[in-house]
Amino acid sequence: MVKQHTVTITDNASGKSIECPVYEGTHGHPVIDIHGVTKELGFFTHDPGYATTSSCSSTITYIDGEKGELLYRGYPIEQLAEKSSYLEVCYLLLYGELPNAEQWEDFKNFVKRHTMVHEGIRRFLAGYRPDAHPMGILVGTVGALSTFYHDALDVHDPDHRNFSAIRVIAKMPSIAADAYKYSIGQPFMYPINSLGFVENFLQMMFAVRAEPYVPNPVAVRALELMMILHADHEQNASTSTVRLAGSSGANPFACIAAGCATLWGPAHGGANEAVINMLQHIGDPKTIPKYIERAKDKDDPFRLMGFGHRVYKNYDPRAALIRQACHDLLNDLDSGGSLGPLFDIARTLESIALKDDYFIERNLYPNVDFYSGIILSALGIPLNMFTVMFAMARSVGWISQWTEMMEDKDLRIGRPQQLYVGAARRDYVDMSGRK
Ligand code: CMC
Repeated sequence: MVKQHTVTITDNASGKSIECPVYEGTHGHPVIDIHGVTKELGFFTHDPGYATTSSCSSTITYIDGEKGELLYRGYPIEQLAEKSSYLEVCYLLLYGELPNAEQWEDFKNFVKRHTMVHEGIRRFLAGYRPDAHPMGILVGTVGALSTFYHDALDVHDPDHRNFSAIRVIAKMPSIAADAYKYSIGQPFMYPINSLGFVENFLQMMFAVRAEPYVPNPVAVRALELMMILHADHEQNASTSTVRLAGSSGANPFACIAAGCATLWGPAHGGANEAVINMLQHIGDPKTIPKYIERAKDKDDPFRLMGFGHRVYKNYDPRAALIRQACHDLLNDLDSGGSLGPLFDIARTLESIALKDDYFIERNLYPNVDFYSGIILSALGIPLNMFTVMFAMARSVGWISQWTEMMEDKDLRIGRPQQLYVGAARRDYVDMSGRK
């Protein structure tokens, strides 16, 4: 962080001024340090939705929303998507560099040793209703990890932090697959550590004990891509939640559970499920104009799901990669035929929206969730598991951001201010005197 110059903020009523330092990062918008504003001028800054507020400095992920660029630790997402694997991206996000051969072997082995979950977790899972939404199961079960793995919960001990991070990365696929197996009444599968990380997840999801299971390499590569693209996305709502929870010193599993809960909403990770519901609802390319009109109508709560983004004012680079992967996957997989019409509706919807002034003026483009549901459907993942898939992939981003925050010597508890607009001070009235 380099101080460049200062910005003067003047209160025109009192004539008082304050010089605020401006800091420049490696890329992106500089920030004004407004620390002194309250002390010197007596104001809080007001920024609902934190749209113009930088809440931390971070070395992990960079997004250029105008260009449509996404970097993990400086590496373009396109290069990682083509050349890397999800587990290697986990190492990169967590430790800051790509691993050398020895580090890679150690890391893979460390993760493998922790893919199993405590048997008590499976009994815990069995307490849920079988028709419970798997995201509800995930939120509860991830939070419960702190009751099973409390041997390494000293958040001030770097070894404990690293151990918990590995446990999060290793166990999220097992918990996600268990939540699915429980919902369909099949016995849980155990991890097979001779398989790759992504293959292992597919095995735990789709294998049954009665038969051998060989993951389809096309499906493995498609899921690998999806997981790389979802691994981190700087200070989005769920990641900021993880940081806020962690800033109080809460244990990492509790913080990741809070991140899962935030991700669940349809404006965030729940959008992938909402997109498929919307495409199925549209049903026929001929009805698309009607839905476009509804999305533009301010009196109608309907929005084009999978469209728009707080940061991207250009095509989301992840959506571009997923769109291409969708095309390839539907050609390669048997299920492609049945999903083809949905993909056609999505592509037609995109091309109509991108020519419409409403979407052009507001820079609304497809985001990561627009095509991801089609890939997940092609892989046989049921609709109610979509956000669980997102959470599983994002867990490494959450734990990396949490680790970075805990290593920050300037860490303070997160505590926003407010503009109070409620009743002015008044005196208590006895019940007999109330209207
Ligand atoms: N359909 C129709 N209009 C939209 C849409 C949309 N999907 N998205 C934004 N707009 C309009 C919005 O009504 C507003 O119009 P106006 O300026 O006339 O009031 C303008 O575009 C700016 O939108 P905003 O709501 O102020 O933008 P935001 O940054 O607060 O919200 C968003 C971003 C992603 C929540 C929003 O675009 C949205 O609800 N999209 C649909 C849900 C979705 O796809 N979410 C996934 C996001 S990406 C993955 C993730 O984060 O998990």
